[in-house]
Formats: sequence, C-alpha cells, structure tokens
Amino acid sequence: MADKIQELSEEIKQFTAANQEELEAYRIKFISRKSVLGDLFSEMKNVAPENRKAYGQAVNEVKQLAEEKFRALIEELENGSESSASKAPIDLSLPPVVNLGTVHPLTIIHNRIVEIFQKIGFNVADGPEIEDDFHNFTALNFPENHPAREMQDTFFIESNPDIALRTHTSSIQIRVMENQKPPFRTLAPGRVFRNEAISARAHCFFHQVEGFFVDKNVGLVDLKQTLYYFAKELFGQDTQVRFRPSYFPFTEPSAEMDISCNICKGKGCNVCKYTGWVEILGSGMIDPNVLENCGIDSEEYTGFAFGMGIERIAMLKFQVNDLRLYSENDVRFLNQFKNIS
Ligand code: PHE
Repeated sequence: MADKIQELSEEIKQFTAANQEELEAYRIKFISRKSVLGDLFSEMKNVAPENRKAYGQAVNEVKQLAEEKFRALIEELENGSESSASKAPIDLSLPPVVNLGTVHPLTIIHNRIVEIFQKIGFNVADGPEIEDDFHNFTALNFPENHPAREMQDTFFIESNPDIALRTHTSSIQIRVMENQKPPFRTLAPGRVFRNEAISARAHCFFHQVEGFFVDKNVGLVDLKQTLYYFAKELFGQDTQVRFRPSYFPFTEPSAEMDISCNICKGKGCNVCKYTGWVEILGSGMIDPNVLENCGIDSEEYTGFAFGMGIERIAMLKFQVNDLRLYSENDVRFLNQFKNIS
C-alpha cells in the first residue's frame, strides 16, 4: 500500500498539462470524488488498526500534494507557461512590431509649404548654412556699416568676420540667381541663425522658407496673387489677407503680410494680441540692385521675393505657445503630431 502511495505522488509531481483537456484529465484522476485518492481512503478499513494513523496521514499528504499541483497547473495554463510559449511555432510572416517615430511638426509645415508652391510650378533650392558676407548681406543691398545689418544679430566666425552663420534664407536667392539664368520660380527652405537670447518667443536658430519669382513683366499683382493663393491653401479658403508697408534692403517696395487670426477667426485673442491679425511673412519686389549684383539685367527682368518663419506658422497652425518645444525632443510633445502629415 505504501508503494502505491509513493507511486501516485511521483505521478502527480511529474504531471504536466499542455491544455484544458489534460488539466481536466488530471482533475478527474486526482481531485474528483471518484479520484484514485478516494479509492485510497476507502482502503482504510482494510488497514490494520495500528497502521491506520500512519496510513491516513500518508494519504492526506498525497491529497494535499494533488491539490497544490492542481492550483499550479491552472496558473501555468492561464499565464501561458514559458515552456509552452517557447515551444510555440514562430510565425515568420508576422510584421515586426516597430515603434515608429512621428513627423516633426516643423517638417509637416515645411512639406505643406513646399507642396503648395510646387503646385504652381516652384522648384526647391538649397544653400550653405555657413555663409560669406557677400551672399548674406552685400549682394542683398545691405551697404557696409549700414544699420540694417544690425536688424539681424549675426553669429560671426571669430577668426574670420567675413564668414557667418546665415541670418536668413535670402542668401540662397543670391546663390541661385548668380549661378542660373532667369526665369526663376524657386523656393528655398533652410535653417537660419541669430544671436538672440532663447525664450518662448525667440531662439538662436529657426527655419525659414524663402521664395522668389523672376521673369519678364513680373509685377506687384503677381506677388499679391501668389501670396493670397498660398495663405488660403495653408490656412483655409475663408482666410483674410492684408499687406502692410515695410522695409527690407533687398526689396522695394516691401510689405509684410498678415492673415486674419486663424485661432479666433479675427474676433481677437491673445495670439493676435486682440487685433484679429497675425503677421506671417515679409515680401517685396526684388530691388534692381540685387538683380544687377547677380548679373541679371534689371531692365529686362523684374521679380518678387518673400520669406517666412516655419516655427511661427507651425505655432499658428498647431497652437504651440513655446518655441523651445520644437528642439527639445520631448516625445510627449512630438507624439501629439502622430496622425498629422
Ligand atoms: N529675409 C527677410 C527676413 O529674414 C524676409 C524676407 C525675404 C523679406 C524676402 C522680403 C523678401 O526677415
């Protein structure tokens, strides 16, 4: 009889259940009322009285062992035991789970702007971030020692005051115009640098998109229509546009363009400082001097140019209220742009 008990407890210890059916087989065999353990209890009457106590104890121990094992088997099946998981065949056709990043909000706006101008025939040009004085200032009609140079707080390369980080993308205008023949219908996006204290509203680097159109008989009306089209495409067809006279050394006349505040729809809010209008770009007719500086005959060709800050437009589109967020790489910020492209 002791052998039988020993045998059963070995069997219990060895038992594994790979699925519910096997678990049920275990339950029937070791736990149910008709279990083999029940049989052992009914054997009690055949055991000699002096051995009954020891026998009873031994049977109770197997019973306990069987119940513990049962609980363990259930748990293992519920959690999908490691051994059975590792035995599962690998599905090679499953696509890998990759946590994809998001398109950066500045890239989203950059792409939108490029798309809008590409539809009306603009191409895209690039230029260096480290520029010389000629391309960043002189060719753009900033006379030497002219106070207009101070409008832009320039980062110079210490050892060479002729070399600086470009302060605007207008330098690309010069590079394209001096190397190619008109007509031009070009967009020039890029990063620019200014020596400003970093705050919610200013940064020492930001991004601009420059655009310029040079051909025979280009007039102010072309500038206005192009920018009307752009503003409505980007901010919606009901967007109002207005031009205010301004000054840039490289355009004459010059104008800044405002759009009706897209946040309060012109009613007045703290983004538009309760004026109902927000400035989005600078523009103007390219000064004949600039064309001549690039070897273009200003009697034959005229053109317009415009430049806008991508951060500012992204702020208006996405209601971002702190410029620093764009370069901090905080995933809580970036994840908010997940479904926009
Ligand atoms: N370069 C000017 C700026 O950075 C913007 C501008 C570009 C204005 C082209 C007029 C024409 O402020």
